[in-house]
Amino acid sequence: MYIFVNGKIIDSGSPAIKVFDRGMVFGDGLYDVIKFQDGNFVFLEEHIERMKKSANFFGIKFPYTLDEICSIGHKLAMMNDLKEGELYLQLTRGVDVIRDHIFEDDYDPTFVEIVQPVRKMDPSIWTEGGKVLTYPDLRHQFCEHKTTDLLPNVIAKKYVRSKGAYEALMFREENGRKYITEGASSSYIFFDGEKIIAPKIENILPGITRSKVLYVARETGIEVVERRIWLDELPQMKEVMLLSTLSKVLSIVKVDEMEFKKGEVAKKLENAFKDLVISTLVKM
Ligand code: PDD
Repeated sequence: MYIFVNGKIIDSGSPAIKVFDRGMVFGDGLYDVIKFQDGNFVFLEEHIERMKKSANFFGIKFPYTLDEICSIGHKLAMMNDLKEGELYLQLTRGVDVIRDHIFEDDYDPTFVEIVQPVRKMDPSIWTEGGKVLTYPDLRHQFCEHKTTDLLPNVIAKKYVRSKGAYEALMFREENGRKYITEGASSSYIFFDGEKIIAPKIENILPGITRSKVLYVARETGIEVVERRIWLDELPQMKEVMLLSTLSKVLSIVKVDEMEFKKGEVAKKLENAFKDLVISTLVKM
């Protein structure tokens, strides 16, 4: 597979990243995942904007323009003969001389661009709906940024998959009461019979899919409320939906032992989201 590392397109098997890269030793970096289909990127500008904002927040230089990232992605897709897949971007602070927590402000960042086939999903999940398991959110306070230090996410995902579930539904606790945050690599929204309720952005990722789905919900006349959602409110919800770049709008039919309908609202939002994607595809 051909990949792009710091200005060069190379074979993914070639040595390219230095051992003292801060992404490698400290997880001092950011990433993003963008879907591409029919040779087009989906919401590329929004993903890049989110990444740039985080790079600015952490003081990491952002080395390429939107157009450059787009044309590198196009080239990689052609070279790897892919019409559909995932564009993975990774930006780290750069390379130290020795391992040292302290960094200077003038590092040259490491930028990686990869175009790979979409990760495998069991197709029955689309017809039957997904199952998820609640799991403690063990992450840090920087979860509004897509940082590369994903160990708690990886462990959560591995655990739920080992129990036959698709994704984790993570929660944090306040005063002994649990509230829902997000998935290990996805967002959640709920339908309570009247309106969509989305966990508010308090130390969770502002998902691009989430913002687009909330937009289409409002456009189709569904009321949307963003607030903290307590886990003990779940039995009152009529529908549970999982959202992400790869999962799109996925109906969730089971959370632990609680069952939900594969509902009409999820179907409506799935279709409206699909239409929005098609109407806004960025030509590569
Ligand atoms: N994950 N929350 C977390 C923790 C995520 O990692 C992701 C995306 C989302 C959904 O964000 P978006 O709608 O912008 O894709 C929410 C990607 C797909 C991944 O890690 O592979």
